[in-house]
Amino acid sequence: MRKGRVEGKVIVVTGAAQGIGFECARMLAEEGAEIVLSDLRAPEGQAATAQIVAAGDKATFIQADVTSESDCAHLMDETARRFGRLDGLLNNAGWYPRATLENTTTDLWEAIQQVNLRGPFYCCKYAVPHLRAAGGGSILNMGSINGLQGLPNLVAYSAAKGGLLTLTRTLAGALAPDRIRVNYLIPGWVLTEGEIALHGGNGISLEALLKAGETLALGRHQTPKDSAYASVYLLSDESPQVTGIILNVDAGGSTLPIPPSAPYVL
Ligand SMILES: NC(=O)c1ccc[n+]([C@@H]2O[C@H](COP(=O)([O-])OP(=O)(O)OC[C@H]3O[C@@H](n4cnc5c(N)ncnc54)[C@H](O)[C@@H]3O)[C@@H](O)[C@H]2O)c1
Repeated sequence: MRKGRVEGKVIVVTGAAQGIGFECARMLAEEGAEIVLSDLRAPEGQAATAQIVAAGDKATFIQADVTSESDCAHLMDETARRFGRLDGLLNNAGWYPRATLENTTTDLWEAIQQVNLRGPFYCCKYAVPHLRAAGGGSILNMGSINGLQGLPNLVAYSAAKGGLLTLTRTLAGALAPDRIRVNYLIPGWVLTEGEIALHGGNGISLEALLKAGETLALGRHQTPKDSAYASVYLLSDESPQVTGIILNVDAGGSTLPIPPSAPYVL
């Protein structure tokens, strides 16, 4: 039987109940890792975990709200206790409500920073001692095009994802002596459950979203699978000399001119 690309590694994925996080968890498990799926929502997270186990792969669920320091500490400590080690962390949990500068209240600003920036900080903080004990490891932060150049209606989210990019680069330098790599993945525009629900709530149909996808440079939206392939590479031993990078899985969305229809602003 073929050896998986992350065979034997123990990897935590946050926000894994659905969307990009679930597909990364599923593919990493298919490639031989022991995956700890984590999410704020326990029933959904447990159902997602059961799907992976039913496919014959190794997965466990531990509930955690990434905005809670004690939940993040428990997630990492409990993973190491159950599986004896920790090799990788995918900081995927995120939240992207639309709001312009004037529409962003203090509470909304704080809530968005907590999920998208403070959460990954806590997860890194409590994962690193275990990664160090394993002799090194890999942290992957789920970034966004908005972390480079934000959109007018994603002001707080863009600032948080920009902060996450700086956290990535800072930790890449700080943790290199421990052989812990830290990278930033940009998934492009992915029609996940979260994205479809958000636009649906604003009266934009799935059909309209798919049409907007056709205006993107390579003719379609990105998919969770597009990001999952990249997550396997960056969390595996195929990338031992890769740290502090941005990997764009966005059909050139971060570098090519935005199409006039500006679908991301929808
Ligand atoms: N969908 C896109 O187009 C897109 C583009 C760029 C970046 N991203 C990023 O990718 C990641 C996943 O996005 P998605 O579209 O799959 O999202 P989604 O909304 O479909 O799923 C997000 C998951 O995170 C969980 N979550 C939310 N808050 C949490 C918290 N406080 N603690 C723990 N779990 C929490 C949710 O329960 C959900 O299961 C996010 O970081 C997002 O910012 C998404």
